[in-house]
Amino acid sequence: MGSRLVGYGSYLPEKVMTNQDFEKIMDTSDEWIVQRTGMRERHFAAADETVVDMAANAARRALNSANLTIDDIDMLIVATTSSELDFPSVAVQVLGALGAKNNAPAFDVRGACTGYIYGLHCARAFFSAGMHNRIMVIGAEKMSRFIDFNDRNTAVLFGDGAGALIFERSSSGYSGIIDTVVMGDGREFDMLHGSPDHKIIMNGPETYKKAVTLMPAAAQHIMEHAGITAENVDWIIPHQANLRIIQSGAARLGFPLEKILITVDKHANTSGASGVLALSYGLDNGYIKHGQLVLYPAFGSGLTWGAALIRV
Ligand code: UT7
Repeated sequence: MGSRLVGYGSYLPEKVMTNQDFEKIMDTSDEWIVQRTGMRERHFAAADETVVDMAANAARRALNSANLTIDDIDMLIVATTSSELDFPSVAVQVLGALGAKNNAPAFDVRGACTGYIYGLHCARAFFSAGMHNRIMVIGAEKMSRFIDFNDRNTAVLFGDGAGALIFERSSSGYSGIIDTVVMGDGREFDMLHGSPDHKIIMNGPETYKKAVTLMPAAAQHIMEHAGITAENVDWIIPHQANLRIIQSGAARLGFPLEKILITVDKHANTSGASGVLALSYGLDNGYIKHGQLVLYPAFGSGLTWGAALIRV
């Protein structure tokens, strides 16, 4: 039992924060940010715009693209680590925002930057078990909530946004979410985590070293698991944390850069929303075409890491 992708959508807040905007408020430069990260701008949600608002906007667009209503969805999974409320889940609040009446189960997955891969992993399992027919996976983050504007090491790295994907159960094992692998290692907690006062604590260079090995390892792992090689993959959408990490991973795997979809320049690191936002961007702008095979490696706080293979 497999799945197929029937709809997608994304949402980016209106406010664009450029590197030049950061130059005005802290000791940084456009040159440093571009050279070290590849980032040029990111979107920041308005003060009263919540993770639920962004997730609901992406969900509406995905439903429109699939010509469905929220009551056609029988499970909603939201990958997020930045919910303003401790409870209930963002997912069930999205059901409320969209007026769902069908009592579908809805829950959040907290996998930090690997969150959307964890969400896709859950969706694949529910399809494989034959338990659900139409699952929406959303990645939504308001990372700007955690930004310490006194810490230039982390402040420039993150952005806000949401992306949504809708999958339908299908008898084909060759479409939709074809495969997923997810991993976690709590021993590396110190490298990157939130603080009790909601700030980002990160050892950048150590995190970098892990990211350049674990993302390619996850990509390799899933290709072996699925019995495919780099030539079979049309696009790679790595977690968009840093252009240098992406380029280094591509070189390790022998993937040509033309196959790598890059949005880190426009969106920066949107954590659990990064891959779903990037897939929507690739589809909207005609890079990714129906029937193509997309490989999604991701890595983040936890540590967590993993990969998904999706035929769009
Ligand atoms: O999504 C979850 C996963 N997250 C990641 O994968 C992030 C991984 N890490 C990175 O992407 C990189 O380590 C960073 C982009 C965070 C930092 O780049 P780096 O090349 O590792 O720089 P660094 O931390 O070694 O810092 C080099 C210098 C330091 O100055 P000194 O001590 O050499 O004088 C920093 O203070 O760059 C300085 N620096 C800055 N300068 C201007 C750090 N941040 C900034 C800044 N503007 N924003």
